[in-house]
Amino acid sequence: MSRALVFFTLLLAFSRADALYGQYLARCRFSSPDGHDAVYLEQFYLNKRLLALYNGTLGKLMGYTKEAIKIADKLNNDPDYVNLGKWKTDRCTRSSPLVYNSLLYTVEPSVWLRSVEAVDSRHPGMLVCSAYDFYPQQIRLTWLRNGQEETSDVMSTDELPNGNWLYQIHSFLEFTPRPGEKITCMVKHASLMEPKLYDWEPTADSGTNKIVVGTAGLLLGLVFSVAGLLYYKKKSSERVLVPTTEVFYPEHTL
Ligand SMILES: *[C@@H]1O[C@H](CO)[C@@H](O)[C@H](O)[C@H]1NC(C)=O
Repeated sequence: MSRALVFFTLLLAFSRADALYGQYLARCRFSSPDGHDAVYLEQFYLNKRLLALYNGTLGKLMGYTKEAIKIADKLNNDPDYVNLGKWKTDRCTRSSPLVYNSLLYTVEPSVWLRSVEAVDSRHPGMLVCSAYDFYPQQIRLTWLRNGQEETSDVMSTDELPNGNWLYQIHSFLEFTPRPGEKITCMVKHASLMEPKLYDWEPTADSGTNKIVVGTAGLLLGLVFSVAGLLYYKKKSSERVLVPTTEVFYPEHTL
């Protein structure tokens, strides 16, 4: 026995492209949540050649070579083999709902819509719609201009893997802002019951923002400098009063 094993190992070690390569593939295929359409298949290959196939729907093994047909005939008449095949086919159907409900999870993307300065001066701006940390990979970002899909001046990255099963994607729209125009980034993903819309707010424009922040900063600065000035005046007048009271104090007591 062990001699045969050594011989077999040596045979494998010294054989080149003509090594024997057996492969067995079992598949449970379904697309409905309850598994009623589940199909169970087993395939047996030798050196990439399909020798036999067990079809769970037929409950039979089918051979594709002379020898495999003989073996299949024997097995199809063996009640143990037939029952085992039935049990495996049932297991495929039974486990479909479990797989469907527990393994096919989704993670909703976090979406960020913002504007960036365009390098090209012909276009004053560029909008970026970024979706982060979603699963599965398939996603669709679409730009809408007043509700109409915008396909020109649009660029997108691929879905980039984070390395933790989650993905991110970035879509760019070159645009010239016009008053009263509504720009929307629409996200379609398996985690969302319906497409989610993210409207671009022109009031949150970076130019206006800078003015608002600048004005607020200026006012705050003014308030503090006026307060500081008043405090300083009060303190310095107190300092002047102190020596005079000291001067008058002894006179009173005398
Ligand atoms: C399995 O059998 C069913 C029923 O005859 C047939 O529709 C199906 O195509 C077969 N599958 C394969 C892979 O041969």
